[in-house]
Amino acid sequence: MTELATPEATAGRHKGINEGNQLGCELGWNSELNRPYANIGIGAFLCKKRRKEMENFDKIVNLCKNRGFIFPGSEIYDGLANTWDYGPVGVELKNNIKKSWWKTFVQRSKNSFGVDADIFMNSKVWEASGHTASFSDPKMDCKNCKTRHRADNLIEEYSKGTANPDLMTNEEMEKYIADNHVKCPNCGKCDWTPIRNFNLMFSTSRGVTDEGQNLIYLRPETAQGEFVNFLNVQRSMRAKVPFGIAQIGKAFRNEVTPGNFTFRTIEFEQMEHQWFCKAETAMDYYKEFKQKALDYLLSIGFNKDHLRYHDHDKLAHYAKAACDIQYLYPIGWEELNGIHHRGDWDLSRHQQFSGKSMAYLDPFTNEKFVPNVIEYSIGADRLTLAVLCEAYEEQQLENDTRVVMHFHPAIAPYKVAVLPLQKQQSEKANEVFAELSKHFMCTYDEAGSIGKRYRRQDEIGTPFCVTYDFDSDTDGCVTVRERDSMQQERIKIADLVSYVENRIKL
Ligand code: GAP
Repeated sequence: MTELATPEATAGRHKGINEGNQLGCELGWNSELNRPYANIGIGAFLCKKRRKEMENFDKIVNLCKNRGFIFPGSEIYDGLANTWDYGPVGVELKNNIKKSWWKTFVQRSKNSFGVDADIFMNSKVWEASGHTASFSDPKMDCKNCKTRHRADNLIEEYSKGTANPDLMTNEEMEKYIADNHVKCPNCGKCDWTPIRNFNLMFSTSRGVTDEGQNLIYLRPETAQGEFVNFLNVQRSMRAKVPFGIAQIGKAFRNEVTPGNFTFRTIEFEQMEHQWFCKAETAMDYYKEFKQKALDYLLSIGFNKDHLRYHDHDKLAHYAKAACDIQYLYPIGWEELNGIHHRGDWDLSRHQQFSGKSMAYLDPFTNEKFVPNVIEYSIGADRLTLAVLCEAYEEQQLENDTRVVMHFHPAIAPYKVAVLPLQKQQSEKANEVFAELSKHFMCTYDEAGSIGKRYRRQDEIGTPFCVTYDFDSDTDGCVTVRERDSMQQERIKIADLVSYVENRIKL
């Protein structure tokens, strides 16, 4: 079992983080000034370390924009709050992360199967799942400055974690806020509207005439696409319980408090895996998936000290156990993924609402039962943000500083940069690029000094730079420079593909 970070072991960092959360932090794009901004509350009160972390977050947002990872959405129209577009480098990174997840949880599992369900689903799905009735946040508006807040967040921040709003009713939260004169973080007044439950699902209508229009929803999670296809997958793949169904796809939530760059957005991608099993085995599988989820994060390069489990105190009435893995973002410890033991709630509810039996007949024991589900869910965008934070380093060299993104080579956007030492080597360097790019994403750069070109590649985390130089014509070799160690070695051009291949495996 891997030892993880604990609140005690990271007390120093944790303290700083709490301070930050208390003071609030918002990151985004200032389209007027055409630069990223980071509002970090009353910065003067932030501890030094914390301030450094927030500066780094600001720098990461900046790097994302300037190096083609992530751009503000609809920027030329002054943007649309909390929407972000992946650029040429970011799309490669996110695709590689999604591929690594699929490889781990689908490709390398004999009995996990993928699906790609539609975003729009029959509205009864959301009744059965409980989303129509209760997928909501407790929203309060400040009557003075008209900003909108989540009551649970106000209490968490005010009480510095000593009060648990998860265990309170709306009335109890209203009373706590009134009794303690909890102030609006924006204007400092304490003049709140009552709490209203704000459903997070985006809806639209479908139909060709006004009269015949039906309300439909943009899915708030991909999981339901896996549950409603349980029978289809089981039959078509002749799957035997236990087995898994996985999916990667878009989800939409009208979040009350989106923000912190791509951490919480209104449109995002989820990677979800549902494991269908017998009730007696479910708790063991729950523990297994907690471990698998962690092992996956370690395998793509996370430091174990930056990850910790957070078991949920308050469980949904149907859940038997639930936990998150949290990551130490520059904004503090926050959820990265969730693992949930959901009992037979999902399939039973779909059985009840659709009238179709979701029971599985065990061919060995002749037992008929509705399987339990162990769910593992992680946001692809949230994971990409965590990967960016984990990879970022500003390194002090002897006579220089460099920004380097230490991505695991398997998820690095480009594997190789091909650099002719001088323009007269362009033709040959292009031949090397043509050969390598049959196998991996490569980039080509012939502008500026070789040192500047190395720095540009460091900033986008390219693990290998291949330089075609004066000797290459005669010795048939190129210089390969490795990103993290900056070590260089001469490698035969004929061996380059296998050299890189061996070093980028997951
Ligand atoms: N099917 C279970 C489910 O959706 P969740 O905890 O609501 O559970 C799972 O979401 C994961 O999806 C989270 O751990 C997070 O990584 C990601 N996620 C949720 N809401 C998000 C948002 N508004 N923006 C970005 N990622 C989000």
